[in-house]
Parts: sequence; structure tokens; C-alpha cells
Amino acid sequence: MTLIILKFFHYLAIIFSGGVLVGGGLIQAIFARSNQIPDKTVGKVLKILGYLGLISIIILWITGIFLSNIIYGGFSINTAFTIKVIAAAFLLLISFIVNIHVYNSSKKDHPPNKSIMKYSTMSTRGLIIVVLFGAAIAFS
Ligand code: HEM
Repeated sequence: MTLIILKFFHYLAIIFSGGVLVGGGLIQAIFARSNQIPDKTVGKVLKILGYLGLISIIILWITGIFLSNIIYGGFSINTAFTIKVIAAAFLLLISFIVNIHVYNSSKKDHPPNKSIMKYSTMSTRGLIIVVLFGAAIAFS
């Protein structure tokens, strides 16, 4: 039962983090393409999406650590799994940095830095692909 619950929350968090990446990425891309800065309301939506992304990746880590230990007795599973975990660690780090940056800029009533937002969105997209390939290969 514990395994089922852990897997359920691992998968649920994947759906949330994917939704945040696609939804938040789309909003940002459309604003950037039309050379506009999101207004306060859209900014609020992006901020909440950022929190959801961070919460999802934290849940992925918590459930992932338990799954690795219960099913495989630790983190030494295979190379693909190691790559998946390293990419997931970068995702966690980037999500932390972006959330802190967005929080600080909204406190100062500034829009978030365009380059930080652009490069973090680009790299998180790449990292999630690496994580998913890693998971697919590691557990095939
Ligand atoms: C962005 C972060 C993550 C994503 C997108 C992700 C994605 C996935 C996916 C798609 C699977 C299913 C693979 C399958 O059953 O064939 C999976 C399983 C698993 N994940 Fe993650 N994962 C993430 C983070 C983590 C982390 C940080 C850990 C460990 C610290 C972890 C540990 C595991 C383990 C052990 C399984 C296998 C469970 C089993 O054998 O059924 N995951 N993950």
C-alpha cells in the first residue's frame, strides 16, 4: 500500500510539474514574442505556477527518495537513474532560484529579469526531458 501511495504521488507531481512547465512556458513565450511584460494579474498566475512547480519537485524528491530506498535499497540503481537524479537536482535548484528571484522582484514591484526567466524556462524544459529519458531507460 505504501508503494502504491508513493508512486501515486510521484506521478501526480509529474503531472503538476509538466503542467507548470507547459502552461507557464506558454504564457511567458507569448508575452515575450509580443514584447510585452505580463501585467499584475498574469504575474500573480505565473508566481503561483512557480510555487506549484517548486512544491511538485519537492514532492518528487520526497517520494523518489522513499521509492529508491524501499524498492532498490538505495540510490545505486544504474547509470540512467544517476543521470535522472542529477538532472532532478538541477531542476530543484533552478526552481528554488527562480522562485526566490520572482518573490524578491514582486516585493520591489519590479518585473522579473527577462534573461533569468528565459534561460531558466529553457533549461528546465531540457532537464525534464533528460529526467524522463533517464526514468524510461533506468526502469526499462
Ligand atoms: C523531475 C523529477 C522527476 C521526474 C519527472 C520523475 C519521473 C519518473 C517517472 C516517469 C517514473 C516512472 C518510471 C517507470 O516506472 O517506468 C519514475 C519512477 C521512479 N522515480 Fe522518479 N522522477 C523524478 C524525480 C525522482 C527523484 C528525485 C528520485 C529519487 C531521489 C526518483 C526516484 C524514482 C524511482 C525509484 C522510481 C521507480 C519506481 C518503480 O520502480 O516503480 N524520481 N520517476
